[in-house]
Amino acid sequence: MTKAHIITFGCQMNEYDSHMVQSQLVSMGIDLVDSVDEANLVLLNTCAVRGKPVDKVRSLLGKLRIEKSRRPLVVGMMGCLAQLEEGQQIARKFEVDILIGPGAILDIPKALEQNGRFWSLHFRQELHDYIPPPPQDKLQAHLTIMRGCDHRCTYCIVPTTRGPQVSRSPDHILRELDMLLGAGVQEVTLLGQNVNSYGIDQGQRVAGTPSFAELLRMVGSSGIRRIKFTTSHPMNFTEDVAQAIAETPAVCEFVHLPVQSGSSKVLRRMAREYNREKYLEHIDAIKKWIPEVVLFTDIIVGFPGETEEDFQETLSLYDEVGYDNAYMFIYSARPGTPSYTHFEDLPRAVKTERLERLIQKQKDWSLKQNRRFLGKDVEVLLRGDAFNPDYLEGHTRGQHATIVPKVPGFEQAGIYTVRVEQVTPHQFNAKFIDAQGQVLEPILGHLPEAAALSSPLPML
Ligand code: SAH
Ligand code: SF4
Ligand code: F3S
Repeated sequence: MTKAHIITFGCQMNEYDSHMVQSQLVSMGIDLVDSVDEANLVLLNTCAVRGKPVDKVRSLLGKLRIEKSRRPLVVGMMGCLAQLEEGQQIARKFEVDILIGPGAILDIPKALEQNGRFWSLHFRQELHDYIPPPPQDKLQAHLTIMRGCDHRCTYCIVPTTRGPQVSRSPDHILRELDMLLGAGVQEVTLLGQNVNSYGIDQGQRVAGTPSFAELLRMVGSSGIRRIKFTTSHPMNFTEDVAQAIAETPAVCEFVHLPVQSGSSKVLRRMAREYNREKYLEHIDAIKKWIPEVVLFTDIIVGFPGETEEDFQETLSLYDEVGYDNAYMFIYSARPGTPSYTHFEDLPRAVKTERLERLIQKQKDWSLKQNRRFLGKDVEVLLRGDAFNPDYLEGHTRGQHATIVPKVPGFEQAGIYTVRVEQVTPHQFNAKFIDAQGQVLEPILGHLPEAAALSSPLPML
């Protein structure tokens, strides 16, 4: 009897792919188990975007190789690292049995039927037509609308691991959405490396696909309560997307627009295809259409050649936009990317010191922006019990992690309107309200330490 355990690294696309693989395993009659100890098949869905997730996979594979010498165990490597020469070397070194690239995950059944080593790295077009069964008892789900990336940001390995952009047909997207709706899902996040260029693969409009703004309006009328999407690339951002968000009630007033750097000089060296001014124009358009918008970004600190002045421009851009939150990364030189080959890495100490200053900036702004919700009623999707089971935890339409103390009649997961009573840079503490708008006080009498209660936001 095969018992499988999947460990997922990296972004939401990998989570989506792991879900696809899990559903394939289940349809083969394989049991899913919660730990390596219980499993005789362990699959790692890997990420290669920075050095850290690669190191983690290496050390896990080291442990799994020892485990393999003690008992029957099949080890597989999937995901972005598997697609790279670097990953294949690691796979050989640690005697990995199955190696499957991100475009080949439908080969999992074949891999398992074949006893012995199985490698598959090609991209299977059928991947786009495959509609995974909806998750059970979950209010939230991901939906991949495109795979791959046509950009060539000089620091980034993703175009190598995931190949060129291929948009999924609107028909498949809507069918999958329908199944999610039928399974009780209330919030769907549309996924792509660059959702704004949906329907335009390698510069060509794909026949039969709408623009991203049109797609948003289509999915907005599907009956799903909340639609989010990630990630937008500023270069392909068009004002009609902001307008579609503003005019489609189900689409949340939440935009994640990675800037990477506030310095036009650094942006040019990153080959981001926009400059500071152009980026700020997009932000203006977004704020014009959606005054209540919650804005997230991604920033890389310490890109090769980034001077203190360049970094100051990132800090000043942060102030100009006033982001609600940011994912901040230290530049990690990835073999196979142009910046790895052509530029010299900055000293580690310079990079970490800049990151610390940026994190301080982010905390100040998150607190300031979160304060605008104090005393307000917000819609929150509570996905289940918090770490402390007297509370439910979830997030708002703007992705604010929120905890709410249970009161009689309000103890189940679901979408509710709650009143925000306290905020930190990381979290809202809110309470349920009754039909008359009165706060429903819990019997507990106090709110415990905020930070201990919620899990962090999912990382890209
Ligand atoms: N397609 C998305 C990003 C996907 S990768 C976009 O362009 O917005 C997610 C984030 O990882 C990127 O936005 C970037 O901030 C970060 N990242 C990518 N490569 C990196 C590297 N070599 N070092 C550090 N951060 C990196
Ligand atoms: Fe990487 Fe740039 Fe593509 Fe995003 S747009 S996945 S950062 S190459
Ligand atoms: Fe990592 Fe691949 Fe996602 S490199 S960030 S898992 S696209």
